[in-house]
Amino acid sequence: MPSRRIRLGQFSAGISGNRSGAFVGMRIGGAWWEQAYATLVERRKRTRNEARKLKADPAPTGPGDAATAALQARVAAQGWYHSIDLGNGVVTPGEFDHRHHLQRYRIPERLDGKRVLDIGTFDGFWAFEFERRGASQVVALDLDTFGDLDLPPRARDKIPAEELAAKLGRGFVIAHAALGSRVERRIGSVYTMAAEQWGTYDLTHIGNVLVHLRDPAHALARMRGVTRGTAIISETVDPDLDWQPGVSLIEYRGGTVNCNWWRFGEQSLVQMVRDAGFDDVRVVARFDIPLRDSARNMHQIVINAAA
Ligand SMILES: C[S@@+](CC[C@H](N)C(=O)[O-])C[C@H]1O[C@@H](n2cnc3c(N)ncnc32)[C@H](O)[C@@H]1O
Repeated sequence: MPSRRIRLGQFSAGISGNRSGAFVGMRIGGAWWEQAYATLVERRKRTRNEARKLKADPAPTGPGDAATAALQARVAAQGWYHSIDLGNGVVTPGEFDHRHHLQRYRIPERLDGKRVLDIGTFDGFWAFEFERRGASQVVALDLDTFGDLDLPPRARDKIPAEELAAKLGRGFVIAHAALGSRVERRIGSVYTMAAEQWGTYDLTHIGNVLVHLRDPAHALARMRGVTRGTAIISETVDPDLDWQPGVSLIEYRGGTVNCNWWRFGEQSLVQMVRDAGFDDVRVVARFDIPLRDSARNMHQIVINAAA
């Protein structure tokens, strides 16, 4: 997740649905919030206009076309975090298009017979990819509502109750139906995962979630508890924090800006994964992800680890 905004999809008002994922300003009240809110309103307008345009397009000529047009309209009316190919030329306009970076994650080409867990699935790009590779069961974990996020208390106090109650996962539901997917979306928090209730998984994945957690070390330990094979951990890091070999630096950000609690150095993240009990912890990729609507890039690393 980019460090300048929270993206949470599909909300209205201050946490409006928008074309490019979903987000809400966490620095309530200041100029930043005003600007972020104005951007949201503008994007929402754009989304609505696109949906209207789609409706006004020439009538479809067959049942397949009608279904595609209906899907296009649903997609256009939703804010998307992930670009997901839904078939028949329909691709969700996500803030992040992980398709370009898939090969960097070292996911086995085939996952036949494997149980896979995607932690913090959002629109479900990774979960659907695991299913596409033949996994026999894919569980996609996410929180129920916006208010379930680790919001800093003072920011939470200023967010209206109806916004806190707004459901996550509307994009996932659309994509799931369009793909005819069997991925199981499970509501819960990474903090409460345990093998007794969840079973164990051949492959677990957590992508761009840890910076948003107040307790990332606890989350990784929980992840270790349900991993029996390989874990893939991907996250943004700040290379400036790795200036001294052997010193694991993390910047505390307090969750106040875009719900980011931390800025990790690569060394600190690797050490945290080791400390969660994983073995053979290796950084398998380092790359930049361009952010839409921003001149900045996110510096991303991918870690593979063994249980
Ligand atoms: C920035 S998005 C990352 C989406 C996706 N994993 C990816 O790599 O593109 C963060 C996701 O983590 C979820 N999340 C945040 N806190 C969580 C928690 N405690 N337990 C489970 N999921 C959580 C959010 O709801 C959101 O779907």
